[in-house]
Amino acid sequence: MRKKVIAGNWKMNKLPNETITFFEELAPLVKNTKNEVIICAPYTDLFYAILSAQNTNIKIGAQNMHWEENGAYTGEISPQMLKSIGVEYVIIGHSERRQYFAETDETVNKKVKAAHNVGLKPIVCVGETLSQRESGKAKEIVTNQIKSGLKDLTKNEIMSTIVAYEPIWAIGTGKTATKEDANETIKWIREELEKIYGKENADKVIIQYGGSVKSENAKELFEMSDIDGGLVGGASLKPDEFAKIVNAI
Ligand code: 13P
Repeated sequence: MRKKVIAGNWKMNKLPNETITFFEELAPLVKNTKNEVIICAPYTDLFYAILSAQNTNIKIGAQNMHWEENGAYTGEISPQMLKSIGVEYVIIGHSERRQYFAETDETVNKKVKAAHNVGLKPIVCVGETLSQRESGKAKEIVTNQIKSGLKDLTKNEIMSTIVAYEPIWAIGTGKTATKEDANETIKWIREELEKIYGKENADKVIIQYGGSVKSENAKELFEMSDIDGGLVGGASLKPDEFAKIVNAI
């Protein structure tokens, strides 16, 4: 039985003082959940988030990183830097990074391996655009993202990788994939993983849904057989709303 993992992706939002207040409010609201709770904060908030999350059940993630250990990469942050301050998760290949910052399946794969090398758990985002969906290419696109982005991992690495299926047309638009559609897509993502890593391992991979998850739709989505939780953008910015999502199931 896979557990549910609910992760908030703050994107480029919140200052340190807002981070501290957020955790003060969120921690008591989610302390009894059996689900895994993660907040992925901007780099400048991470250390505040880690201190604020001490003695709580909330884990901390980053939203990106470089794949190299160190070197002349002005403006970049390495996996070791994240690990050294207590970060446990890192979002890799979010569609906004693919769209605006030239992230490719190749760089996603390098980053996923680099994350595992230092013991960070990657949350790898895949998903199709509206035009790809309308032209019947969604399956091909997502399959390629899985095959290339998650290639050559060990069994232990794939089992500690989280996949987030985020159809791009559903991100920040208020449009959610129907629970049946999201479940169906996640099922065939798992089938693709099964072809590469075998059923026993694929069955253990957490696959989340992301795209306009909110307290009104969280329960019905998370109750589906193959949806193992959510990656939540806008609705993760308010502690009470995010807590409702965490506690929806
Ligand atoms: P929204 O929940 O704001 O649609 O964002 C989804 C997302 O991109 C999470 O990574």
